[in-house]
Amino acid sequence: MAVKHFLTVPDLSKDEFEHVLQQAAAWKRQPYGGVLAGKTVALVFGKPSTRTRVSFSVGVYQLGGLPLTLSEQELQIRTSESIEDTARVLSRYVNAIVIRTFAKKDVEDLAAAASVPVINALTDEDHPCQALTDIFTFREHFPDTGRKITYLGDGNNVAASLSEAAALAGIDICLAVPEGCDLPKVKMDSIAMLSESCGTKFWVERDPEAAAAGASALYTDVWISMGQTDDSAKVERLLPFRLDGRLLARALPEALVMHCLPAHRGEEITDEVMDGPQSVVFDQAENRLHAQKALMAYILGGR
Ligand code: CP
Repeated sequence: MAVKHFLTVPDLSKDEFEHVLQQAAAWKRQPYGGVLAGKTVALVFGKPSTRTRVSFSVGVYQLGGLPLTLSEQELQIRTSESIEDTARVLSRYVNAIVIRTFAKKDVEDLAAAASVPVINALTDEDHPCQALTDIFTFREHFPDTGRKITYLGDGNNVAASLSEAAALAGIDICLAVPEGCDLPKVKMDSIAMLSESCGTKFWVERDPEAAAAGASALYTDVWISMGQTDDSAKVERLLPFRLDGRLLARALPEALVMHCLPAHRGEEITDEVMDGPQSVVFDQAENRLHAQKALMAYILGGR
């Protein structure tokens, strides 16, 4: 049987995506289980992490398995051993590899050579585990259909995966990004195709107030992502897209404030909205645990 990887959101079908969301709700009610009993999951980090590292570690433990956290610096990967050989070796010891690194191609190469499932825990291009969690969190408040999420800010990995996950979940998504901060064209095109096939809307809006109007959630992320250098011209262009009280007032009265964290308070989001009653940012952080447990249970155990 082919090994099931999760490198981007569309690696799950609509039905698989729904199944994982339902299992995540079950794990949230009943945190412990034995689905990973006797199994080891390698957690490889080439970039810093708080939420991903801790939620995967705790999640594997709660399912009865052993989390093995490794930094790329501690491994021989890239320096004296290829990504492919690292994948072949790790596959002889562990039952799955969760990896956070830089280039998408590195994760694809790792998955191609691995004989165990590989889960993408963030690359420069995608953050699928975050997006799975974000839709789970959104659905906790809005299980109905016909809703819109507006993402404000930089067209980055979080925006890309969120757009794909929204399409699978039947949610419209508007990317409110300034000129010069768009997702790469190839990603825009693939999201547009996915949205069309799912019957949802996906579009870019340059006016943040128009984008926020009627939204059920306003979502933002840092303007300068991990590994990028500060860019004052980019920050200047992004200023009108800051998630603040002014933009939140344009959204639906019940709209959620979302951020994948860590936040640069006062930059892409104000304290007023991040600490306000409509904020679910810390629910998002908690839900990484439940959603990723459901993902691992499905990918490793077909559950
Ligand atoms: N949101 C997120 O991925 O957080 P970490 O970078 O702390 O893992």
